[in-house]
Amino acid sequence: MKTPSMSRRDFVRLGVGAAIAGAAAKATLLEPVALAAQTAVDGRKVRFVMIGTGIRGCDLLRAARLVPTGVCVGAADLYVMRHLAGKEAYGADFPTTSDYRTLLDRKDVDAVFVATSDHHHRRVTLDAVAAGKDVYCEKPISHSVADGVATVEAVQGGKRIFQAGSQRVSSILNKKAGEIYKSGRLGEVHQIDAHINRNSPGGAWTYPIPPDASPETVDWKGFLVDAPDRPFDAKRFFRWRCFEDYGSGLGGDLFVHLLSGILGITGMNTVASRAYSSGGLYHYKDGRDFPDMLETLYDFPEMQVHLHCNQNNNDGNDTISIYGSKGTMVVAGNTLTFTPQDVTPRFEPYGWGGMTAAQKKLGQDEWNASHPAGASALGEVESYTLPQGYNETADHIANFFRAVVTREHVVEDEVFGNNAAIGCHLANYSYFHRTVATWDSASNSIKG
Ligand SMILES: NC(=O)c1ccc[n+]([C@@H]2O[C@H](COP(=O)([O-])OP(=O)(O)OC[C@H]3O[C@@H](n4cnc5c(N)ncnc54)[C@H](O)[C@@H]3O)[C@@H](O)[C@H]2O)c1
Repeated sequence: MKTPSMSRRDFVRLGVGAAIAGAAAKATLLEPVALAAQTAVDGRKVRFVMIGTGIRGCDLLRAARLVPTGVCVGAADLYVMRHLAGKEAYGADFPTTSDYRTLLDRKDVDAVFVATSDHHHRRVTLDAVAAGKDVYCEKPISHSVADGVATVEAVQGGKRIFQAGSQRVSSILNKKAGEIYKSGRLGEVHQIDAHINRNSPGGAWTYPIPPDASPETVDWKGFLVDAPDRPFDAKRFFRWRCFEDYGSGLGGDLFVHLLSGILGITGMNTVASRAYSSGGLYHYKDGRDFPDMLETLYDFPEMQVHLHCNQNNNDGNDTISIYGSKGTMVVAGNTLTFTPQDVTPRFEPYGWGGMTAAQKKLGQDEWNASHPAGASALGEVESYTLPQGYNETADHIANFFRAVVTREHVVEDEVFGNNAAIGCHLANYSYFHRTVATWDSASNSIKG
């Protein structure tokens, strides 16, 4: 899903119905709307700046190259080499700075992308809103519940467009999953299980530390801001996800992606009432604060959601499984599969096993009389996959650019982003306090 070009933005429906006896396998080609290919509204290009040109900021810039409705006109980063990295990623020159506030002063800037470590999201977003800019903020949009509440208030008070950066919500695969979900073909759904597993040092945030990293090349004080003061530490700067002063561990990195996918597919845009986490730091005992295995069980209205991430195993990688009374839908990587269940009513002999043959025959006769034989209602298995080179981030950015110009709604606004991020905070609260975390919507806070 990361390569930046595609010739056909469409689904290929794979005919795997043959897995079910008698079901015809039929391949259908669907043609979804390609957001990134949309032309500019009134010919207007959104002029944006990128705050944070690290791993994600550069990915966003590479994806933004595919979106003709916007143009990058500046970038900021606290590590000087990343000024160049950002320009290389975008393939064009633009002014760069270590102080993002100078970019916010510019009148020719419409929108700001926030791709910093999590502990800067609130500050940069609020400054951008105060400067009258629209904001695309990476997930998790908050580093704490209070950050998220402040962000929602500021964005709504300033009437700004805000897109949270869990790009899978814009993916044509997730949209197809949402269509199937909303059609009711899954029947009643009360259980969802999702996980992302990664078994590699990079998957556990052990990112490279460049040899030139020093207080001369990194604005360390600018990085710490409100975090506890400490001497320059390159490990903390480049591997910030491991430390609670700047990041949110598996909850903020991966649970938010899974929850955003789930909220998007189901339309259940809310916060869980309770969460219980378990897990541990089993392998990466390198001084980090967060566990390398985390699992959380959430109570949503009428729905149990079970999330788990394991940094010591790769199996299943990135999967959301939705279990309904009439079928199961699995979104795994680039593929979506809907498997209907056979719910044709049948006489069930098991319960008659403790009765006489005459009683059983009577029961069966009565059942047959009230259930005229009909055809099995079982449909075929359906599978959809993303075309080669499809880039969901480009579609997510295009959705944002369109909203900046039209002032229409984005797919993943501040409330959605905040709800998903609170899922991360509930999970971490439960894990660290060793208690069930309860969401109190009246006070916008977590209770133990
Ligand atoms: N949507 C996704 O799939 C996805 C993927 C990766 C990361 N992310 C998110 O993107 C964000 C960045 O992650 P990353 O992996 O790029 O981290 P990173 O450490 O590679 O890059 C972050 C950069 O932000 C810069 N920065 C921090 N505060 C700044 C400030 N006030 N002004 C200017 N620059 C500042 C740092 O100097 C650093 O270079 C995180 O919130 C992360 O959760 C999202």
